Amino acid sequence: MATDSVKHVPTFGGAAISEMKSFFSAVKPRKTIITFVYAFVITFVAFTVYLAFAPSLITVSNSVSSYILPNVSAVTSASSNITLQATTPESLTPAVINTTFEPPLGNETNPFSRNNASRSHASVHLCPNNNTARNSDKQAPLSVNSSASSPMRKQSRKSGAKREIKSLKDCDFFEGEWVKDESYPLYKPGTCNLIDEQFSCLTNGRPDVEFYKLKWKPKECTLPRLNGGKLLEMIRGRRLVFVGDSLNRNMWESLVCILKGSVKDERQVFEAHGRHQFRPEAEYTLVFKEYNCTVEFFASPFLVREWEVTDKNGTKKETLRLDMMGSSSKQYIGADVLVFNTGAWWTDDITSKGEDYFQERSTVYPKLNVDEAFRKALTTWGRWVDKYVNPKKSLVFFRGFSLSHFSGGRWNAGGACDDETEPIKNEAYLMPYPSKMEILERVLRGMKTPVTYLNITRLTDYRKDAHPSVYRKQKFTAEESKSPLLHQDCSHWCLPGVPDSWNEILYAEMLVKLDQLRGNRRRKPKGLL
Ligand SMILES: *[C@@H]1O[C@H](CO)[C@@H](O)[C@H](O)[C@H]1NC(C)=O
Ligand SMILES: *[C@@H]1O[C@H](CO)[C@@H](O)[C@H](O)[C@H]1NC(C)=O
Ligand SMILES: *[C@@H]1O[C@H](CO)[C@@H](O)[C@H](O)[C@H]1NC(C)=O
Ligand SMILES: *[C@@H]1O[C@H](CO)[C@@H](O)[C@H](O)[C@H]1NC(C)=O
Ligand SMILES: *[C@@H]1O[C@H](CO)[C@@H](O)[C@H](O)[C@H]1NC(C)=O
Ligand SMILES: *[C@@H]1O[C@H](CO)[C@@H](O)[C@H](O)[C@H]1NC(C)=O
Ligand SMILES: *[C@@H]1O[C@H](CO)[C@@H](O)[C@H](O)[C@H]1NC(C)=O
Ligand SMILES: *[C@@H]1O[C@H](CO)[C@@H](O)[C@H](O)[C@H]1NC(C)=O
Ligand SMILES: *[C@@H]1O[C@H](CO)[C@@H](O)[C@H](O)[C@H]1NC(C)=O
Ligand SMILES: *[C@@H]1O[C@H](CO)[C@@H](O)[C@H](O)[C@H]1NC(C)=O
Repeated sequence: MATDSVKHVPTFGGAAISEMKSFFSAVKPRKTIITFVYAFVITFVAFTVYLAFAPSLITVSNSVSSYILPNVSAVTSASSNITLQATTPESLTPAVINTTFEPPLGNETNPFSRNNASRSHASVHLCPNNNTARNSDKQAPLSVNSSASSPMRKQSRKSGAKREIKSLKDCDFFEGEWVKDESYPLYKPGTCNLIDEQFSCLTNGRPDVEFYKLKWKPKECTLPRLNGGKLLEMIRGRRLVFVGDSLNRNMWESLVCILKGSVKDERQVFEAHGRHQFRPEAEYTLVFKEYNCTVEFFASPFLVREWEVTDKNGTKKETLRLDMMGSSSKQYIGADVLVFNTGAWWTDDITSKGEDYFQERSTVYPKLNVDEAFRKALTTWGRWVDKYVNPKKSLVFFRGFSLSHFSGGRWNAGGACDDETEPIKNEAYLMPYPSKMEILERVLRGMKTPVTYLNITRLTDYRKDAHPSVYRKQKFTAEESKSPLLHQDCSHWCLPGVPDSWNEILYAEMLVKLDQLRGNRRRKPKGLL
């Protein structure tokens, strides 16, 4: 199965099956699976032993960790220009109030101005892990509404679904093309009030509409149209949590809109704190009351913790703790589905060129290569996942890097994408695979928790046509519209748009895993459930 890390990340192989079994039911693992898992354990015994003997998960020993996770700085030089193309930090809501990396020209009139990132530590878990619910068969996801159809129809629908899932299992979701589909988008443009102005391109006056009728079509299969009702059934009584930068908020806004469009009563969908704007805060919780579940977003652009140290002379200085998870991490312990991302903020201009910025314990490195810091941070993240995520209960996804498309200049120097109305056709213009994602892949291979890697970098890179560009705001001041430096957003994505496809892939991944669960269940003697 090439659809996720199975093919490339050996740890995922057998574990995925047992993981799904226990995630959605109380089935005991089968012998074959145990054997498989056993093999995987042996493969990574070095890492496990290391974990067992490490004095603390936070204490990173450079020598040992680089033995386990090979030194990656070799790959960085070849792709030094990728960082220029990398998604810019702009409105990625920072998770800490005062940070030093205010992008240039940071003021209200420019899109890259900092947001009011007032922190809310209120933790609202309307859908606590309810073991009773989790273990009951009724709570099993994807329960087809059987009262809706006759047994005959049910039968044929079932076999159709079976065929579909079989085709998904053998399919590489990330290799394919964008095709026009008039039945898209998944929600009516301009109608979902959960989308921020920043992504509401049509409301902001974008005239062309072809860009949101494109559907991602893998070469070897067809992604099922995301059925919001079905997905909500899958997460009934559960928490689906996005953690990362504003591109993950982009994806979260897409998903909550898709889901909101499929509930019977939209009044039963609301933000837990009563929020109506989804940009300034560090945390949002969308409640789907009918389904007793939440779909949440935590702003944590580096995943690790933004910090502050005081110099000898009393000057305060921002740093980044590569050895600690972001401060919101305790709030998403126990979530049932986790979708992480990071990458866009790991650039020289945000991280002070790596000078006096990266910190581990009490050491602030005078200079540390950004890729090396990224590797250390992801290692911290991986250890956190291995420690706090129960793979029997939760699914973990990591969404890959989303490249931006500024042409004629950088994001803060007149870079533009507003005349793009078609995706890239010539693959020669696609960017090479970012070194940051190679680092990520290495870290994933060193983890014991199975993480499904949503490798969307390349498929997303085709879509130079789908950024907000100048349609990131409804109204510009006269001065702004005259400015040659009028900032365009060629990093984020219009909604409806590309993140809908990321969510369709997420959905397909979940369907495949659920089918593995059902297959295993079918072969079991009756009575175990
Ligand atoms: C990684 O390799 C580079 C040279 O290839 C070296 O300068 C650096 O110290 C190494 N880093 C670690 C953590 O081993
Ligand atoms: C990076 O881009 C600059 C300007 O486009 C070019 O001069 C330089 O050779 C590029 N470096 C690499 C490593 O591609
Ligand atoms: C943030 O900076 C402002 C001024 O730039 C200062 O007044 C405020 O106290 C700072 N807040 C924190 C939490 O450091
Ligand atoms: C805000 O940006 C505009 C144009 O980008 C500039 O003219 C103005 O001086 C800036 N204001 C502040 C307070 O930085
Ligand atoms: C930032 O948020 C705080 C609390 O939510 C609010 O009191 C303050 O006015 C906001 N500031 C801006 C500039 O929006
Ligand atoms: C947990 O599930 C049980 C049975 O389904 C229900 O009675 C109880 O109210 C639930 N608790 C919470 C906190 O949802
Ligand atoms: C199942 O279908 C019936 C009949 O169409 C409908 O009344 C009921 O609300 C549906 N239940 C769910 C959970 O969708
Ligand atoms: C949601 O949970 C509440 C109690 O927590 C329960 O009364 C209700 O039946 C649940 N609703 C659904 C649709 O499961
Ligand atoms: C304090 O030290 C920092 C460097 O450690 C220096 O940049 C800064 O100018 C110093 N400030 C004062 C008031 O001496
Ligand atoms: C992700 O996709 C890129 C091409 O876009 C490929 O080079 C890389 O090997 C893929 N990684 C995995 C783990 O499949």
